[in-house]
Amino acid sequence: MLRVMTTTAKRVPIPKNGVDYRGKIVLAPMVRSGECPSRLLALKYGADLVWGPETVDRALIGCTRIENKTTNTIDFTRYSSNGNKDAQPDHGHRESVIFRLHPEREGRRLIHQIGTANPETAVQAAKLIAADVAGIDVNAGCPKPFSTLGGMGAALLKTPEKLCEILRALVKDVGGPFEIGISVKIRLLETPEQTEALVRALCDTGITGLTIHCRTTPMRPRERAIRDQLKMIADICRETGVACLMNGDVYSRDEALGLIAEYGVDGAMIATAAETNPSVFRPESEGGKASWDVVIREYIETSMEVQNRWGNTKFLLGQMIPGKQPVYQKMTGAKSYTELVQVLGHPDLVERAKITDEQLGIGDFEAPKVSKSQQKAAKKAAAKQQHKGKTTRNNGSKVEKQKHAASSPIKPSAQPAGHNSPTIANKKRSAEQAELESLQDMARDRAPGSIPESVSALAI
Ligand SMILES: Cc1cc2nc3c(=O)[nH]c(=O)nc-3n(C[C@H](O)[C@H](O)[C@H](O)COP(=O)(O)O)c2cc1C
Repeated sequence: MLRVMTTTAKRVPIPKNGVDYRGKIVLAPMVRSGECPSRLLALKYGADLVWGPETVDRALIGCTRIENKTTNTIDFTRYSSNGNKDAQPDHGHRESVIFRLHPEREGRRLIHQIGTANPETAVQAAKLIAADVAGIDVNAGCPKPFSTLGGMGAALLKTPEKLCEILRALVKDVGGPFEIGISVKIRLLETPEQTEALVRALCDTGITGLTIHCRTTPMRPRERAIRDQLKMIADICRETGVACLMNGDVYSRDEALGLIAEYGVDGAMIATAAETNPSVFRPESEGGKASWDVVIREYIETSMEVQNRWGNTKFLLGQMIPGKQPVYQKMTGAKSYTELVQVLGHPDLVERAKITDEQLGIGDFEAPKVSKSQQKAAKKAAAKQQHKGKTTRNNGSKVEKQKHAASSPIKPSAQPAGHNSPTIANKKRSAEQAELESLQDMARDRAPGSIPESVSALAI
């Protein structure tokens, strides 16, 4: 008798609000380089899914979710505490956008990546954003000390039990209730045996997807990705029904399709090639990679639409414009969107750029520089106010509180999240503010525009 063998590939169920990573070519998580306009452009050019840049759980916890009507985005923002645990946002402290997403254009195609070393804080942070995204991904691959010293990123590869515990907690307390997928991004371990044991344990946690960055932790980004463990990893994932994405030295959609077929993985993730030119997601049959000048114009327009921070836009343009092009130098000298579109030769964008500059308080709309003595005076007044605030809380007088608010030299920001309000508070950052921002910066390997461009050379 002829026996017909039928094999049905096992698949972990994809939750109602989640997304199957199978058959997808996706944009990688990239701090600084994976902010809202970059993701929107990648999607426009055919990326099937986009990962947001890693946000450390502690930075997300305490954020307020704001529907920004000007940009049609959802902003997760927080105020600096100015070192005061009881500080109220309406005292005009500096507001930072920790994460901005565009629900209409990204929505269920956005996976949010968190940095974490703890199941409780991971769950707490993920719950804040879970209703706005299609999945939560855990970064278990970042080799930088700011991550690993806190037990996050690649440090989790050395504590697989903890990593599994985090994933199980997310699956149960976030994936379940919000009906989204939980996934993880890892690197290769030193030996195939070690990688195999890790992948088996991870696939047993209830995750729907796993991305393998085909480099070991000590490998530098310029070293060629290693592909000899890929088939084995893909086999384990298939056996357990978990979708497997490959990452490392994938340069275009068409190349990705070839690699998927060659190694039997379910999809591929592109980072640096898409950072330089997000049109790498467009198939050759539809025109393939667009030229850099076309893409940067679109990038600038998208950045203006979502009021991307000027520093971040400029940083990304530095990655996208070839260094030898004369406009590269011109771009680096620009101090506002208006100057930028002028030096790049897009006069039709000037009016739009002026509006963006006004919204962001840059260029012609930047507040006058505050002198050192003014800064000192503002700091003194703020300290005095803080002291008075404490006294007020102690005697509980509402009238007193109102007086303090009125006499405060630091006015509340009247602008929506993401605006650089031209106040003294914005100009002057106290040590405590700097500390909060360094947490945020650490959290995201620098918030857009909040650090000098040179630091970004520390790319993961
Ligand atoms: C600027 C930059 C930022 C990155 N940030 C993250 C991150 O936030 N989370 C993460 O898991 N990997 C991050 N990575 C690593 C990439 O996602 C990817 O794994 C790596 O660049 C290898 O892919 P590639 O060869 O296509 O560049 C970052 C890489 C770069 C270049």
